[in-house]
Amino acid sequence: MAVLRTVIQDTHKKLKEVGIPDARLEAEVLVTSVMRMPRQSLFGEQETEVNGQQQSALDELLERRYQREPLAYILGQREFYGITVVLTPAVLIPRPETEGLVEHALFMAMMGMESRDLIIADVGTGSGAIAINLAIHLPGGKIFAVDVEDAVLDVAAYNIRAHGVGDRVTLAIGDLLDAVPEPVDLVVANLPYIPTDRIPTLQPEIQQEPVLALDGGSDGLDLIRRLLVQAKDKLKYHGIMLLEMDPEQIPVVAKLALEYFPKGTTSVEKDLAGMDRILVIQRQEAE
Ligand SMILES: C[S@@+](CC[C@H](N)C(=O)[O-])C[C@H]1O[C@@H](n2cnc3c(N)ncnc32)[C@H](O)[C@@H]1O
Repeated sequence: MAVLRTVIQDTHKKLKEVGIPDARLEAEVLVTSVMRMPRQSLFGEQETEVNGQQQSALDELLERRYQREPLAYILGQREFYGITVVLTPAVLIPRPETEGLVEHALFMAMMGMESRDLIIADVGTGSGAIAINLAIHLPGGKIFAVDVEDAVLDVAAYNIRAHGVGDRVTLAIGDLLDAVPEPVDLVVANLPYIPTDRIPTLQPEIQQEPVLALDGGSDGLDLIRRLLVQAKDKLKYHGIMLLEMDPEQIPVVAKLALEYFPKGTTSVEKDLAGMDRILVIQRQEAE
């Protein structure tokens, strides 16, 4: 029977050979997952034996990874802004850059916004990761989490229940803000924003994520444009929208937003890599 140290070395080598980036980290994550131990205990458990059952479980996971199935789908979960959300291939894997949306929404809620009991829409909720975090940190908030697909909302519903925020998060199925029954103070949206013709060029792991979560139409902005149209009726006059997109899309959407909301203002927030990532739109119209 092999010990943990050699199993990790062996797994690392196999993953590296098939071109998996971060092969060492993934080897540690996969091995500790089948051993049901936290990654932090690896150092102290180097000589622990890996039994036959654990090795076969690892081999099964490795087979999936060789097919470039994303690690987060294999593990069935991902950490996002300090919470763990359960995932299936029906939902996008939440990305670190999207944590900026949560951070900024919380900042807006605490600093600038008039009402303590904010009404918020998380449009295109996916796993529910954004809505759940907002509910955890804004106990007075009322959050609508919208998506278009039942299979997506099933995952969000599971996560919302698991984090005990079902009293503050209402799931809604439908097209963008059309699914939200009342005007909101804050719209937070990480909608699909990848141009259709770029999708076949993305890394194989991303191509296994749902196309509905990625494809934003010919210039990536189909859904964001429609969201702005719907916001005229669904965003309160003092309301704010926080929209995630690619850096080159930001000036285009900022210009469009000011056409819809001529008394509004826009600003830009950067992601962890220093790239422009979030467009902030303040509507600011007199009631
Ligand atoms: C990029 S994913 C974001 C998921 C999640 N908010 C996150 O950041 O991890 C976009 C989500 O928008 C949903 N979506 C696509 N078209 C939609 C529409 N017309 N109305 C509402 N949601 C939509 C997709 O199903 C997907 O869950």
